[in-house]
Amino acid sequence: MEGEVRVKNTGLRGVTVADTKISFIDGEEGVLIYRGYRIEELAEKSSFMETAFLLLNGALPKREELGIFTNQVLEARTIPDFIYESLKKWPRDASPMDVLQACTPLLAMDDPERLVETREANVRKAIRLIARFPVIVAAWHRIRQGLAPLPPDQTLTHAANFLWLLQGIRPDEDMARDLDVCLMLHADHTFNASTFACREVVSTQAHMYAGVAAGVGALSGSLHGGANAQVMKMLLELESEKDIAGWVKQKLEAGEKIMGIGHAVYKTTDPRAVFLRSMSSRLGGKTGQRQWHQISRQVEEAALKELEKRGKTNLKPNVDFFSAPVYHAMGIPRDLMTPIFAISRVAGWCAHIIEEKFAEAQEKPALYRPAAEYVGNYCGVMGCTYDPVEAR
Ligand SMILES: CC(C)(COP(=O)(O)OP(=O)(O)OC[C@H]1O[C@@H](n2cnc3c(N)ncnc32)[C@H](O)[C@@H]1OP(=O)(O)O)[C@@H](O)C(=O)NCCC(=O)NCCS
Repeated sequence: MEGEVRVKNTGLRGVTVADTKISFIDGEEGVLIYRGYRIEELAEKSSFMETAFLLLNGALPKREELGIFTNQVLEARTIPDFIYESLKKWPRDASPMDVLQACTPLLAMDDPERLVETREANVRKAIRLIARFPVIVAAWHRIRQGLAPLPPDQTLTHAANFLWLLQGIRPDEDMARDLDVCLMLHADHTFNASTFACREVVSTQAHMYAGVAAGVGALSGSLHGGANAQVMKMLLELESEKDIAGWVKQKLEAGEKIMGIGHAVYKTTDPRAVFLRSMSSRLGGKTGQRQWHQISRQVEEAALKELEKRGKTNLKPNVDFFSAPVYHAMGIPRDLMTPIFAISRVAGWCAHIIEEKFAEAQEKPALYRPAAEYVGNYCGVMGCTYDPVEAR
């Protein structure tokens, strides 16, 4: 067929489907860059607010711009009453990722600008989503325990306020800074599955909330954002295991994957994992619970050794491997680990949605519409003979 590119690549590995100016990964060298800046430098010197501004607007903010942006997020730190009322009626055992995904279109209903498709309006929608995602996750966690949601503390940073809303205790400053760093590390990652889902949805001209809801759904899977909760499950299982190397070997022999290891793009250690590995060690010492870091190091060592024996030398820890013990040390329940990923990644999703909607990295917007090869039943162009149900 004219114009058709005769390539089939299940899983789209290595297929370039668009241009982007937002982030860049060098998978061989273990490099991650947001809008030109190395992730290591941002994690050391920046803040999640500044990084979110950078992703959305393409440049680091001047002091005044950062102040305005931060205030806009502060002002949007509440969710409408009808969402609180809905949350109270939902089954207490609902998955927090399902709750977050379900609340995303509810936030759209509360946004008078949801259908205003200017860049400025989309940045304002992004600000509201960034501000409200943590509020939803924390409110759900309190409601499911039979507790009342807390009002935001407007003196606290984005990360510190989330810990306050969740735990009802003003967090220690270093812990809040560590969470802020985690939010920066997870904020964007080029065309990962959830970002691609967001971009694909808004390529139909659907609004930002529809795109973000798709992103939350994609992130929930255990091969993507759901991996951190799976890593924590593994660490908890291994707490009393004497032979961790033997456990790892057995898993691999059974054809199972070790969660938190391997990456579709990185063929070396994920640069975010390097940061999180040392944070996990430090927090283990601080909380007096060193075992989680120690178990993860033993799993890492055993898995890499076993995988190498099987000729898989480029499977290394990814961002989810050490974020699990880090969040555990912060007192975050296992099923809120993936929602925290979403609280951060929503900044990247919104930046990509804006880039997609306004064709900021390509000539004009384009509807995604890949082809598939039909390998099903075929009786020729006239179709198969339809027999009435009684005659089949
Ligand atoms: C992330 C992931 C999907 C990327 O995978 P990918 O590059 O598409 O590679 P595949 O899943 O096709 O795996 C390639 C090979 O490595 C193996 N492999 C990949 N990750 C593995 C892991 N974590 N443990 C054991 N084996 C693994 C696969 O079984 C496959 O082996 P085979 O060729 O013998 O069939 C994969 O590494 C994975 O499932 N990791 C665990 C989940 C996870 O941590 N996800 C978070 C990613 S940030």
